[in-house]
Amino acid sequence: MKKILVTGGLGYIGSNTAVALHKAGFEVIIIDDLSNASEDVLGKIARITGTEPRYHLIDLKDAEKVDRFFASEKVDGIIHFAAYKAVGESVQKPLKYYRNNLLALINVLDAMERYEIDHFIFSSSCTVYGQSDEMPIKESTPLKKPESPYGNTKKIGEDIIEDFIKATGKSAVSLRYFNPVGSDPQGLLGDLQHIPNNLLPYMVQTAIGIRETLGIFGDDYETRDGTAIRDYIDINDLALAHVMAMQRLLDKKNIQPVEYFNIGSGTGSTVLEVVKAFEKANNIKIPYEIKPRRAGDIMEAYADCSLAQKELGWNPETGLETSMKTAWEFQKQLGVVKSKSS
Ligand code: WQD
Repeated sequence: MKKILVTGGLGYIGSNTAVALHKAGFEVIIIDDLSNASEDVLGKIARITGTEPRYHLIDLKDAEKVDRFFASEKVDGIIHFAAYKAVGESVQKPLKYYRNNLLALINVLDAMERYEIDHFIFSSSCTVYGQSDEMPIKESTPLKKPESPYGNTKKIGEDIIEDFIKATGKSAVSLRYFNPVGSDPQGLLGDLQHIPNNLLPYMVQTAIGIRETLGIFGDDYETRDGTAIRDYIDINDLALAHVMAMQRLLDKKNIQPVEYFNIGSGTGSTVLEVVKAFEKANNIKIPYEIKPRRAGDIMEAYADCSLAQKELGWNPETGLETSMKTAWEFQKQLGVVKSKSS
């Protein structure tokens, strides 16, 4: 049984990927520093898969602890999620983001070389494209300056990986996610954001009454209804993309040493269309008010994901309304727990 290390494996995407790896017959081991996750996710993974993955509480910025882990664990591949990801905070505290996201990555890659681990999957983001002039966005679309230090850590991370793989002859895939939404079907592993950054956490907290209304950031964009367009990809489809990418590397089917794939639904949805999809899926009214545009927001981004479909055999199969149902299921399980500081 191949063993895969999932860094940041107690987070939203990491935990759903741990479940998908288990279902595909892999042994999963998780590293997480709990900076944006809680240990009770382990029990939720066990409720879904029947097995609680082994877990190490490690700050990947600590090179000595990283080395001690790899000296004790033989892994066949690494899926690296561990990173800070709050766009707004990255603008306020850029060095926190550069230090954490880049040093953690470098320590993991360094260990790959020392412990002869050959296959690496990187959690990247559509944010590396900035506000692209081309729509839908292809992997060959020229990258523009990312909109935030967070996005820049993803761009720089891709460059570090590219140089590392060239120097070592290993293999890597960088998955550029669009907007992940939804939860596992049981509503256990959703996008927990006590103080939300993203649309869906705000929406479900409004639906359950933690927030009075949903603020919609701008309705004066040049789009079909004036609100901004994004590509919302279901978390279950996104998790599966990681398993298929890792399998591709293990089977040595990659064409290039480093490959990049857009992981999105291939469909753009406006904010108002997401609100309507949520209301229809859950038979709930979402009170909203139009607010000024949010600084740094781009008008439109959605994926051409045909390369992942062709090369990985991966398909976005879950519709937006299903994602809205599971996102709501997750929030209902949480209840109206007030955020630590609203
Ligand atoms: C989506 C749309 C907002 C909240 C982020 C990261 C990006 C990537 C995907 C990781 C925008 C609008 C939001 C609200 C709103 N993540 N909105 N009211 O900004 O597209 O991308 O997630 O890699 O790096 O930046 O996602 O969910 O914040 O916003 O109107 O209360 O919803 O303006 O148009 P975003 P988001």
